[in-house]
Amino acid sequence: MTAARPALHVVILAAGQGTRMRSRLPKVLQLLGGQPLLAHVLERARDCQPTHISIVVGHQAEQVQARFPDPDLRFVLQAEQRGTGHAVALALEQQPPDSQVLVLYGDVPLLAPLDIQRCLHSNAPLTLLTADIPDPTGYGRILLGPEGQVLAIVEEREADAATRLIQRINTGILTARAADLLRWLPLAEVKAQQAGHEWYLTDVVALAHAEGLRVEAVLSSDANTALGVNHPLQLATQERLLQRRRASACLQQGLQLADPERFDLRGTLTFGQDCRIDVNCLCEGEVVLGHDVSIGPGCVLRNVHIGDHVVIAAYSVLESCVIGNGCHIGPYARLRPDTVLDDQARIGNFVEVKNSHLHSGAKVNHLSYIGDAEIGARSNVGAGTITCNYDGVNKHRTLIGEGAFIGSNTALVAPVSVGAGATIGAGSVITRTAPAHALTLTRAEQITRLDWQSPQLRSKEKP
Ligand code: UD1
Ligand code: MG
Repeated sequence: MTAARPALHVVILAAGQGTRMRSRLPKVLQLLGGQPLLAHVLERARDCQPTHISIVVGHQAEQVQARFPDPDLRFVLQAEQRGTGHAVALALEQQPPDSQVLVLYGDVPLLAPLDIQRCLHSNAPLTLLTADIPDPTGYGRILLGPEGQVLAIVEEREADAATRLIQRINTGILTARAADLLRWLPLAEVKAQQAGHEWYLTDVVALAHAEGLRVEAVLSSDANTALGVNHPLQLATQERLLQRRRASACLQQGLQLADPERFDLRGTLTFGQDCRIDVNCLCEGEVVLGHDVSIGPGCVLRNVHIGDHVVIAAYSVLESCVIGNGCHIGPYARLRPDTVLDDQARIGNFVEVKNSHLHSGAKVNHLSYIGDAEIGARSNVGAGTITCNYDGVNKHRTLIGEGAFIGSNTALVAPVSVGAGATIGAGSVITRTAPAHALTLTRAEQITRLDWQSPQLRSKEKP
C-alpha cells in the first residue's frame, strides 16, 4: 500500500508592488493574453489539485483580492513587503507542519504544468525549478558544488562578478515540507538582518544544504516558460510567447492562420472546419466560428458567435453579436453589442450597427448607422441611411418591415416604423409611420427655372 499523499498547500506570492513596471496597476493584475498574470498562476496552482491555495497580497491588496472572489482562495495580508521569505512565513502560519508546500510566484505566469509536476514528484526535502537562460540579469543564480549539488541561490544584488556569469537561474518555484520551511525561514530572516537586505526565501537553499539535506534542482524543459515579469519588456516577451503557443494550438486543430506571428487571442476561440484568419486579427472574450468562415486582415472580434459560410472582410470590428449563416460583413464595418444578423444578411463598408436585429437577407451596404432597430427580411437599406434613435435623453426603436426599400440618405426619426414592402424616397426625413407597400417621401419638390441666368462677372471699378 502506498502512503497517503500529504496535503498540498500552494502559496502564491503576489504582494509586491512591481516597481519596475512603473505602473499604477499592481503587477500581478497586469494583463497577459487578456488575463491578469495572477490568473495564469492560479490556473497552474489548480492543476495540482491542492488542499489549499493561499495568495499573499500586500500592495493594493483590496484591488487584487476583488479581482479573484473565488471562495476556495485564502488571502494572506503582508502589510509591509519585507521580502519573499517573509511572505511565505506569513502564509505558513496556522498550516499543518506535515503539509507539502509549493511556492509559486505571482509574476511567473507561463510555467509548464509538466515542470511543476516534476518538482512535486521529487522526493528531496527541498526541490527548486531552475532554468538555463542566455541573459540571467536580475535573477537569483544557482550555485552548484563540485558534484553538481545545489549549494545556494545568490541574488543578483549579492552576486560577485563571477557569480553573475552563471546562467542557471532560480525560477522562484520551490517545494518542501511546511515544517522544514518553518525551521529555515526564521534563520533566513536573521541572515537578512545581518546582511542588511530583504528577507529572501531563496536563502532557505543554503540553510537546507548546511543541514546536510539534499536540494534537487529540476531543470525547466523550456526556459522561456519559467521567466518572470518584472518590467514591460518582459511582459511583452511573455505575451508573444503565449500568443505563439495559442496560435500553434489553433493551427494544430485545423484553423488556417495566415501568419501565426500576427494573431492574438485574448480569450477562447472555437471554430469548425475550413476557417481562415488573415493577418493582424484580434479575438477577445469568447469567439465562436462555424464552418467555412473567412476573417479578413485587421479584424477585431470580441464575444461573437458566427455561423457557417460567413465572410468578415478587412478591418471590421465586431463586439457582442451573433451572426447567422452566409452573412457578409465589411470591409470597415462596426457591429456593436447586441447586434443579431440572421442568415444571409449583409453589412457593407462604413456601416455601424448597434442593438439591432437584421432578419434574413436584409442588406445595409454602405455608410449607415443602424441603432435600436429591427430590419425585416430581405429589406434593403440604402447608402447613408441613419436611424435617429436618440432624442438627447432617451433611445427609441425603428421598425422596418419585410422587403422594404429605404432610399439613400434617409433619416428615420425614431420611434418610427416602415411597413412591409414600403419604399422610402431618397433623402427623406421620416417621422411618422410609412405604410406597407406604398411610396413615402418627404423630399422637397424639384423645380427648374428656365428663365434663370448665371451671374456675370462685374467689371472692375476704377479707383
Ligand atoms: C525573485 C527571486 C529570484 C528569482 C526570480 C524569478 C527572491 C529573493 N528572488 O526575484 O531568485 O530568480 O524571483 O522570477 O525570491 N513578493 C511578495 N512579498 C514581498 C516581495 C515579493 O509577495 O515582500 C512577491 C512579488 O509580488 C512577486 C514575487 O514575490 O510576485 C517575486 O518578487 P520579485 O520582487 O519580483 O522578485 P525578483 O526580483 O523577481
Ligand atoms: Mg519577479
